[in-house]
Amino acid sequence: MADKFYLTTAIDYVNGAPHIGHAYEKIMADVIIRQKRQILDDVYFLTGTDEHGIKIQKTSAKNNMTPQEFCDMNFSKFEAEWKLLEIDYDQIIRTSNPKHKKIVQKIFQKLCDKGDIYKHSYTGLYCSGCESFLNQRDLTEDGLCPDHLVKPEEVKEENYFFRLSKYKERIAEHIKTHPNFIQPAYRANEILNQLENIEDISVSRSKSSVSWGIDVLNDDSQIIYVWVDALSNYITALGFDFENPEELYKKYWPANVHLIGKDIIKFHSIYWIAILMALDLPLPETIFGHGWITIDETKMSKSLGNVIAPRDILKEYNLEHPDAFRYFMMSAAPYGKDGNYSDKDFKEKVNADLANNIGNLLNRSLNMLVKYFDGEIKEEFKTPSSCEIAKSAEETKQKVLSHFEKYEIAEAIGEIVDFSNSVNKYVTENAPWTLAKENKMSECAQVLYNILEAMRYISVMLYPMCPNISKDIMTQLSMPLNFKYDTLEWGKLNIGKITEKEKIKPVFLRIDSEFATDKKKEN
Ligand code: MSP
Repeated sequence: MADKFYLTTAIDYVNGAPHIGHAYEKIMADVIIRQKRQILDDVYFLTGTDEHGIKIQKTSAKNNMTPQEFCDMNFSKFEAEWKLLEIDYDQIIRTSNPKHKKIVQKIFQKLCDKGDIYKHSYTGLYCSGCESFLNQRDLTEDGLCPDHLVKPEEVKEENYFFRLSKYKERIAEHIKTHPNFIQPAYRANEILNQLENIEDISVSRSKSSVSWGIDVLNDDSQIIYVWVDALSNYITALGFDFENPEELYKKYWPANVHLIGKDIIKFHSIYWIAILMALDLPLPETIFGHGWITIDETKMSKSLGNVIAPRDILKEYNLEHPDAFRYFMMSAAPYGKDGNYSDKDFKEKVNADLANNIGNLLNRSLNMLVKYFDGEIKEEFKTPSSCEIAKSAEETKQKVLSHFEKYEIAEAIGEIVDFSNSVNKYVTENAPWTLAKENKMSECAQVLYNILEAMRYISVMLYPMCPNISKDIMTQLSMPLNFKYDTLEWGKLNIGKITEKEKIKPVFLRIDSEFATDKKKEN
């Protein structure tokens, strides 16, 4: 395994407040990063906001605000939402910041100097939702953008063009020879197909049609295309420069993964890669295109009134921390697939797994430890690493690690739940209460030891999704709050009095409410 890990997310357009779709990606990023930090020391997590372009220019005008005021207002909403969800990034970059703008201008200039950018008169169809020109063949039968269902605007301009077509063979070759480059792998074929039709792209807009953006150096009639501006954030945030790049850049670039939605894989695996190739910079290892989240199987949209902010869910269910929501979101979609949020599924899943399965297991076993052994674990309770539960804990750990290596988070969660189920079954089969009744105290002690040691494994494995619940489990086991994987060795549970009656609390209380469905009825 490489000794550093650099993950980036897509940077969100700040033309509205964040919803659970944006949150899904940031939670996934945070979960991947937290898990990497359990293994590695050198980890860097970048997220941010995409603040330029026609869409933001128009929405800020509608709101009677300058674009910068409007971006400032919405940026703070994103920032607050990520704090609430405990998204523990190292940096949140805003593309309106002067340092980013200056480097983007230099990047553009470098591409001009290399002869990869040229001026060209052009007529095209521009969708402001995508911030992209579309081809006639991409449109629906009614001539609409298939993603935003609006008619693109016809634009006639003299723009700067980037020689994207020059790089198409090299990109195709890279995709074919690097099976991990586009994930899930089945999306690589879509990109290879799109590459076949790729043409040079316009990388600037005339200031008369878009004024909110970064000026082209030496030509103040033109604004740099918002995608060139946005994609560059992955290196500008690290302090990239042609002459004297900062330490962060030298240490972390190339990215190990660009985590983005399936809708913008093309921009990352074609446009961004071509720019990097043109600049002679190293390429990212993986572009992971996650699926989309729907609400009650319906695409979220302002017109349907079904857009939900994560904070509303936390408030509705009176959740004191975001763990249940994080956990549900990560279970909702298997590897790269779409997922769905519904009240019913949310409640069922978190009540079943976090309250009944994992929470109860800890609660029952700690109560028995108090009842039969005054809350004390003695040296002689210890069981060998060859016992069945220990072997199963180790196997689960290996499977969870291997799923995480492949970004299969829902699958990793599945392993943790299966393991917890099997421990619950073990409790029923070995009935420590019967052993105590029959005065088989040493057997009873060993069963309790096994369950509590299994709980310690669960706490470490669950930590990336549920940091608060995991901390609570560790605290109730009287263990230090260290979630590094190298602490997971069978038999490391503290010896001594670890608990007493008053200290035992449920780590997660069942929830009950009908939030998303009520909201839909209101509209
Ligand atoms: N600004 C561009 C990205 C530039 S990256 C250099 C953008 N912004 S966005 O706000 O429209 O989307 C940000 C991210 O959120 C994208 O990865 C997108 O796929 C993701 N999602 C937006 N809605 C989503 C869902 N409903 N579900 C899951 N992810 C979704 O695109």
